[in-house]
Amino acid sequence: MSAIKFELIKTCKQTGARLGKIQTPHGEIQTPIFMPVGTLATVKAMTPEELKDINAQIILSNTYHLYMRPGHELVEKAGGLHKFMNWDRPILTDSGGFQVFSLGPLRKIKEEGVEFRSHIDGSKHFISPEKAIEIENALGADIIMAFDECAPYPADREYVKNSLERTTRWAQRCKDAHKNTERQALFGIVQGGMYKDLREQSAKEITDIGFPGYAIGGLSVGEPKPIMYEVLEYTTPLLPEDKPRYLMGVGSPDDLIEGVLRGVDMFDCVLPTRIARNGTAFTSQGKVVARNAIYADDFRPLDPECDCYTCKNYTRAYIRHLVKCNEILASRLLTYHNLHFLLKLMEDVRTAIQEDRLMDFRNEFFEKYGYTK
Ligand code: GUN
Ligand code: ZN
Repeated sequence: MSAIKFELIKTCKQTGARLGKIQTPHGEIQTPIFMPVGTLATVKAMTPEELKDINAQIILSNTYHLYMRPGHELVEKAGGLHKFMNWDRPILTDSGGFQVFSLGPLRKIKEEGVEFRSHIDGSKHFISPEKAIEIENALGADIIMAFDECAPYPADREYVKNSLERTTRWAQRCKDAHKNTERQALFGIVQGGMYKDLREQSAKEITDIGFPGYAIGGLSVGEPKPIMYEVLEYTTPLLPEDKPRYLMGVGSPDDLIEGVLRGVDMFDCVLPTRIARNGTAFTSQGKVVARNAIYADDFRPLDPECDCYTCKNYTRAYIRHLVKCNEILASRLLTYHNLHFLLKLMEDVRTAIQEDRLMDFRNEFFEKYGYTK
């Protein structure tokens, strides 16, 4: 028995997009879903109560960061990640593969695993597939990710082929090492870069091993958007229909909609929280860079169509003032709004699928939002 149960409720007659739900040990998730990122066991600037106010159903946290600080043993001693951070809804942990590979010259990849130096104090560490699963088992998230290698972009075929084949061997080792299958669902990750035959090879190998859910990794790594959409278009049909599909590291409003149209059920990204902290808001009319002088005496809300706490109570002029003064409240108000915006967008997407009109919804959204990210 798997720790989760996925139910495909229906597909949109206009687009084929999927509406579903995932039952987890910490409750149900409606899909398609966006998962706010809480790298260090906190979604930066948000309390769990605020996350619940905006209907966050599941959050993501990071194995690599929690292993480095405060250490998975400490989190386990606290009673697991849910207790440690006071979040009783579902959590997904990424395996650390992606973060470790982002360390660049600080790391060395071997068949056994990855050797790297800490981004904090330079100390030496080693993460193998077995170690990643040991950490993820200790953290206790509802959904855990296999330890994979995400190839950079661009990368030549030979490199991508080698790395996807190693990712397959690591995926099997992760599955063999996973102790807690009743409480935690381990997802496999498909790699293969921007090469169609390599995506096919990876999808076949990963689905042959068999997991309760599948992620598409190695996208949103700097490739042009049309290429990402094309890769998605041929990759999602390679995955089983009765399992959730998760597109890793994607979270701009336009990419979420395009991803759902191509059969994706789950997304995560630091984008909404990161741009909030440098003073930018998503709105129904595109991005608002709150620092801009044009907002100095603009007494409208960030997004006139938004009914979030920030937009009900504060003006662009006030938020611009906070941003310019580096006030903590600027980050809090903007993060709250941006996450609300994406979660509401996904709710609207689910409703549009339910009503078989996702393409109309997409076209109306882009008409107002603009086609740039
Ligand atoms: N986050 C964004 N892309 C990836 C990926 O390819 N692998 C993992 N593990 N995490 C990611
Ligand atoms: Zn708002």
